[in-house]
Amino acid sequence: MRTEFRKAILPDEIRSLMAFDRKIFPRSDLFDVTAWKTCESYWMVVDGVKVGCCAFEKHVDFREDISEEGVNRSRKGSLYISSTGILPKFQGQGFGALLKSWEISYARYYGFTRMVTNTRKQNLPIIRLNRRFGFRVVRTTPRYYSGPTDSTVVMELLLQDRRRSARAV
Ligand SMILES: CC(C)(COP(=O)(O)OP(=O)(O)OC[C@H]1O[C@@H](n2cnc3c(N)ncnc32)[C@H](O)[C@@H]1OP(=O)(O)O)[C@@H](O)C(=O)NCCC(=O)NCCS
Repeated sequence: MRTEFRKAILPDEIRSLMAFDRKIFPRSDLFDVTAWKTCESYWMVVDGVKVGCCAFEKHVDFREDISEEGVNRSRKGSLYISSTGILPKFQGQGFGALLKSWEISYARYYGFTRMVTNTRKQNLPIIRLNRRFGFRVVRTTPRYYSGPTDSTVVMELLLQDRRRSARAV
């Protein structure tokens, strides 16, 4: 089984990203063109087939839920994971864990010291998956989502700079 992670080409692949998103997320949670343009997105391709996709915003803290203007804030060293998804027909086979693991490696490789993500409170699969990889809940904000109404759970993972600590030893 050959697995690769490939950066989505913008703007050429925005339609593909949106079509992929529609197969995974409820209608109310879909990203629009502007949201995809804001992110850096990666496909997870298994034996030539797009199985999963994730999206990042670099040096960003997720604050939309608590800021009065409903916007995120820049924060050096913080990688915001705005989307992680595996096509339904490939779920439950460990691909979500593989993608999450790659996201964390990506963050470490590029020297991020923190990862932040958010999800529906009802979304136990991703909350469990994030917890398994060491993410902890930092807050739960009510009525963030509509269709259906739900809270957003904000989770973070603090990353040690292993290269620096190795040098310090
Ligand atoms: C969350 C998601 C990425 C997990 O992908 P997956 O390929 O099914 O996950 P895996 O097979 O690697 O399972 C990893 C872990 O996910 C969790 N999980 C997966 N399916 C689950 C389910 N139906 N119920 C509870 N936990 C579940 C478990 O912690 C599981 O670990 P376990 O096998 O030890 O129980 C996938 O369900 C998905 O794409 N969901 C829709 C999109 C979404 O909601 N994304 C998150 C918000 S951005």
